[in-house]
Amino acid sequence: MNASRKRTSYRPALLLANIGQFLTLRVPANQTGPRRGSNLKELGIICDAAVLCVGGKIVSVGSTKDALRDPWIRKHRKQITEIDCAGKVVLPGFVDSHTHPVFVSPRLVDFEKRIEGASYEQIAAAGGGIRSSLEGVRNATKTALKDKTLTALRDMAAHGTTTVEAKSGYGLTVESELKSLEAIRQASSHWPGTVVPTLLGAHVVPKEFQGCSQKYVEIVCKDMIPQAAKRKLAQFVDVFCDKGAFTPEETEQIFEAARKSGLKVRAHMGQLSETVLAPFLRFTPASFDHMDHVSDNDVVLLTKQHTVATLVPGANYFLGLKSYPDARRLIDAGVRVALATDYNPGTSPTISMPMAMSLACTHMKMSPAEAISAATINGAWALGLADRKGSIEPGKDADLAVFDVADYREIPYWFGANHCSLTVLNGVIATRN
Ligand code: NIG
Ligand code: FE
Repeated sequence: MNASRKRTSYRPALLLANIGQFLTLRVPANQTGPRRGSNLKELGIICDAAVLCVGGKIVSVGSTKDALRDPWIRKHRKQITEIDCAGKVVLPGFVDSHTHPVFVSPRLVDFEKRIEGASYEQIAAAGGGIRSSLEGVRNATKTALKDKTLTALRDMAAHGTTTVEAKSGYGLTVESELKSLEAIRQASSHWPGTVVPTLLGAHVVPKEFQGCSQKYVEIVCKDMIPQAAKRKLAQFVDVFCDKGAFTPEETEQIFEAARKSGLKVRAHMGQLSETVLAPFLRFTPASFDHMDHVSDNDVVLLTKQHTVATLVPGANYFLGLKSYPDARRLIDAGVRVALATDYNPGTSPTISMPMAMSLACTHMKMSPAEAISAATINGAWALGLADRKGSIEPGKDADLAVFDVADYREIPYWFGANHCSLTVLNGVIATRN
């Protein structure tokens, strides 16, 4: 299916009724920008609710009783696809604002080495890590990469995700990064959800440029970014700014190139070590991701920015780390926090947002309500999509996730099992595969 066929895909008028708990995430009074502080807990719950979607948009939200009395619904009942939610929980489809889906193989040797005691950095230094995923992507056809990406997107939808940020970053040549972005574009044209493509040409310095990273940075700035922008293959540029990856100075250089090409920026920041954030703020990054290491000064600085701190506890879990990002410190200070899977073959091979939320609750002491806001509306803010995604309000995209549970707290509670029974992506129904 190509992009134009996608636009015309069949989107019946849809009525979801008898929703036990309907988590609308509607904007609380006096709230602008990403949720923070106590607003993160405001889920806007309606009990025994219904929602009408027409043409891929939310049209109305209310009680089941009112919906069934509505004259328009009564008149058009025969043309409306009705779904009886039988007391289940419905919420906005998850916005997974940080994923790396374009890779070929799992990294099983890294997995075993880590079990034997090696660290992420030691494995990378010994030839494993990100660099060991490059050959597969460089040699793969675009179709093979598209197929891998599409499989991941479908799996994500089956777990309740309807919007996905998808990064390149395992090719690290101009040709293979553009091929990866084209694969993302092709995969997204076959998927009814929404995909936000990001160029992560600055994931790590490839082996052929080790010792002369500046030459590689120039290729990223002068070739990759302008070409990706010209061909409208990416909306964001991401940089892995950390020890063993790119320096803060190189990150600024890359951000500057992104700005020149009209692309927005985000960064992997503070995963392995602390980096001073102030120099990057002039680029108004949409998000700093990981944030395991952040100074008190920068926490204060972030409370004054719309930049979202995107936490990815799947990486801490899978790397077997004892510590997790200090979500309580960030949230209690007033930083805008989102949650994402960081789906990738090295540190977080999970497509499950409920799993990320479960880890956030158990290891980062976020409440289930906070985890839900962070996985929906704040993810949407982290992608610049909050006007369309992340809450269920008239005029927004019809992105819904139905969970076969009676209480929303069960979503992070039943970890490791998928209780999502149905997803609506831009008005298109996807049942569990
Ligand atoms: O977000 N830290 C950089 N990127 C990924 C890991 C990628 C990999 O190990 O393949 C992350 O954790
Ligand atoms: Fe990542």
